[in-house]
Amino acid sequence: MSSYLPPPGTSDIFPDEIPRWNFIESTAHRVFSLYGYGEIRTPIFEYSEVFKKSIGQDTEVVQKEMYSFEDRGGRELTLRPEGTAGVMRALMKTEAPNGLETRVFYLGPMFRGERPAAGRKRQFHQVGVENVGKISPEHDTECISMLIYFLEELKITGAKLLINTRGAEEDKAPAEKALKEYFSGFISSMCPDCKERFNKNIWRILDCKGAECQEPIRNAPDVKDFFTQASKEYFNKVVELLKQQGIEFEIDRRLVRGLDYYQHTVFEITHTGLGGQNAIAGGGRYAIAVPGSSKYIYGVGFAAGMERLIMVQDALKVQLPIHNPEFIFVASLGQIAKEKNFLLSSELRMKGMNVLMELEDKSMKAQMRSASKNNVSKVLIRGENEIARDIIILKDMKTGIQSEIPYAEIFNALQSK
Ligand code: HAM
Repeated sequence: MSSYLPPPGTSDIFPDEIPRWNFIESTAHRVFSLYGYGEIRTPIFEYSEVFKKSIGQDTEVVQKEMYSFEDRGGRELTLRPEGTAGVMRALMKTEAPNGLETRVFYLGPMFRGERPAAGRKRQFHQVGVENVGKISPEHDTECISMLIYFLEELKITGAKLLINTRGAEEDKAPAEKALKEYFSGFISSMCPDCKERFNKNIWRILDCKGAECQEPIRNAPDVKDFFTQASKEYFNKVVELLKQQGIEFEIDRRLVRGLDYYQHTVFEITHTGLGGQNAIAGGGRYAIAVPGSSKYIYGVGFAAGMERLIMVQDALKVQLPIHNPEFIFVASLGQIAKEKNFLLSSELRMKGMNVLMELEDKSMKAQMRSASKNNVSKVLIRGENEIARDIIILKDMKTGIQSEIPYAEIFNALQSK
């Protein structure tokens, strides 16, 4: 272990990278507000049951990836592997479970103990939305179209939208029966993971990437054929509405998603700029029951991985809006001037100006060198002579012109031009 490195799968994010994060965060605030979403902040850890019950005991996330621990009070807690479950727990206190439409979004770190790789981290960040309380193809489509608009505003081009349906609760048993019957003839030659999925979570066989599993999966029945007419119509309506909106998509009958709470519409956004981990966002409609309640809460939402959005923006060479603030530099000749300038710097900042000042004792030459290294537009210079005359020297760094200003005029002089 090198003490300078953070744990595997985590990263430090330095100030020069932060504008990229701010751009995504501010775009999320702006775009989601247009659709009536408000930000929600829930705890980074929850009772483990919250995730086990909603994401599903047999999912890879719950079985293999959760960071769980017992706290000093003997509580079983887990660092959130995703945002939806905790948000649903929080919304149980509201009217959302009774059908009041509630629109929320969130931003923040999530934790999954996956094998680290490019774009696959153990602490990663999601920006997600949940539209809770109502069930309709219109809600699903609006959610998808908001995601597409969000990506456009992030200047991400070339993304691909995949959609599918998991059907409703009553479609599960017939679909699983059909998959079991079909895969039972092939399972002995399929990968160890699929053998496990065959008994625990047969849907996940459909999105296995193992080479030996591709042939049987290609010829597997389409689960939609076993859904009720109502579920088929629900999906057809989503397809029709997406077409009406001019949104391009592909129906991918292998798309099942890795979390068990999904019902009806599921979707994913992929991008070739990512390489192996090609999903930049995923979501769908869900029904979730949180611990202590048998009542389901219904919603539709998505989450995008912020690291992956940044990777795609980098691959596309997306230029960020330039935000390079100009500074005023306050230079001092002598100790008395330095003390007075220390106060002046604070006053200017409190008036909303960006101000830099050398806090160590440095020569005028060294101070000017420091000014020229930063984005300084004006320098204020003061020594004992200027203090005695109650003036300050203002140097415009663009024109090089230096002028003497009565001290009382300083704010006006800095604000003009
Ligand atoms: P998810 O597909 O598990 O869905 O994650 C959403 C996105 O988070 C992925 O598409 C990916 O961009 C990013 N992501 C996931 N795992 C990692 C990782 N280890 N490293 C980096 N990025 C990662 C959900 O989490 C659902 N809660 C989405 C949702 C909201 N469904 C309905 N509402």
